[in-house]
Amino acid sequence: GRVAVFMGGDSAEREVSLKSGKAVLSALQSAGVDAFGVDVRGCLLRTVDNPEFDRVFIALHGRGGEDGTLQAILGQAGIPYTGSEVLASALAMDKLRTKYVFEGCGLPTPAFRAMTSVAEAEEIFARLGAPLSVKPAHEGSSIGIRKVFSAAELAEAYQEAAALDDLVLVEQWIEGPEFTVSLLQNKALPAIGLSTDHAFYDYDAKYLADDTRYRIPCGLAPDDEIRLQQLALDAFRVVGCRTWGRVDIMQDTAGEFWLLEINTVPGMTDHSLVPMAARAAGISFEELVVRILKDTLP
Ligand code: DAL
Ligand code: MG
Repeated sequence: GRVAVFMGGDSAEREVSLKSGKAVLSALQSAGVDAFGVDVRGCLLRTVDNPEFDRVFIALHGRGGEDGTLQAILGQAGIPYTGSEVLASALAMDKLRTKYVFEGCGLPTPAFRAMTSVAEAEEIFARLGAPLSVKPAHEGSSIGIRKVFSAAELAEAYQEAAALDDLVLVEQWIEGPEFTVSLLQNKALPAIGLSTDHAFYDYDAKYLADDTRYRIPCGLAPDDEIRLQQLALDAFRVVGCRTWGRVDIMQDTAGEFWLLEINTVPGMTDHSLVPMAARAAGISFEELVVRILKDTLP
């Protein structure tokens, strides 16, 4: 049957998704898969009610495509799709509630609070200390994330984040290198270490800058890399994710790892991390997308 690569969409990550989707589509085609691209805008129900495809590769990032909504509609229509199912997709899209699950399962994640008004700034700052990271709970690609050092900055950053999202997460900032672990067919690929001259691995560092440095091998001692990969697998398991994804993790100066979040449809652009990790494991981009596609639900 034909495979539709869903891309674009209406989320803030539309541009990233178009790049991911185009890369996925051309790789599937060169692997001999009968595939075509669909820019998914507007009503998902109408897009799915289409007899021209019988399997979907989801290359949509963010709300509407990565958050369980589409997965529920495809499931209802009986159309197999790539990646995680409804619950894990919805949960992973919510950074706050993902952290409740990590915490509840005894997995390390930086101390945090949900913030619901500017008036809470002093109290949250007194409780969590500095620096803090302020995040719209449902965005990806670091959109709307700010690092703050005072209660006044926290109040200001809260207002910015609250303009993008009805849920704002405040988290202790872990000073230390960032790592990411990609998962394919429920197994961990080599970890990647990230460093940037930006204040953190932000949207520009992710997609625009050339001065972002990726370390692969990641620079950890073998035992530590295995511990990191195991933590990513545990995170994936407790949230209920399946097949592929990417887990973002910080390491503090004492060497401890701290889970930030899970991405159930990670970027697949030429700057992206999952393809880089796959390559380090000897898996070409073409083989990567074919393996992700093979793992669709029957
Ligand atoms: N949300 C972006 C696409 C990522 O995690 O790679
Ligand atoms: Mg994300």
